[in-house]
Amino acid sequence: MSGEGEVPFTHEQERTIAALEADLAQQLARKPHRLAHSLSVGHEAERLARVYGVDPYLARIAGILHDWEKAVPDSELVDVARDLGIDLEGDDLAQVAPLLHGYVAARTLPARYPWLPREVLRAIERHTIGAADMSPLDMVLFIADGIEPTRGSVPALDAQRALVGEVALDELWWRTFRDTIVYVVETGRHLYPGTIEIYNEVAARRA
Ligand SMILES: [Fe+2]
Ligand SMILES: [Fe+2]
Repeated sequence: MSGEGEVPFTHEQERTIAALEADLAQQLARKPHRLAHSLSVGHEAERLARVYGVDPYLARIAGILHDWEKAVPDSELVDVARDLGIDLEGDDLAQVAPLLHGYVAARTLPARYPWLPREVLRAIERHTIGAADMSPLDMVLFIADGIEPTRGSVPALDAQRALVGEVALDELWWRTFRDTIVYVVETGRHLYPGTIEIYNEVAARRA
């Protein structure tokens, strides 16, 4: 799908990507798997963006930065999120601790990178939960996070990977979003109620 006729990044974009990757290596120095995952999401998001006609530069930097706050343990992130006024589920933020890092990063990254476009921050904010009104960039990051190669070969993921370029972007996102819900249920984890609302809203729209 991509490759031929691909528009390369400008030198300035290449420099920015290299700088962000170097910053991330420091930020996630104690989490080598998370670092490898994040760099891989950057590449996968760029690839998906080129396949689906989304801005590949914005996808790449969103991918690199999406798990920036994974440097902070989930237990501490609950307090940080509370201080930032993030309200996902009443007072019970501890229940949704693994979902908070995207919301926190969207609020903390601008202090370090004031130039980050709003749409990149929004994609980062939405990468854990999704939303009923996902933009193409939001969908690209969400999907790339799930299917990037370091996740390994898993039947559900391989099935998603096979659909890249074969189905429309919103179709692929809807598939990955539903698979994520199935995974949460199958493993007996807490299912964030807001996820059900998103599911019902998108399902109704698509019906
Ligand atoms: Fe994440
Ligand atoms: Fe991630």
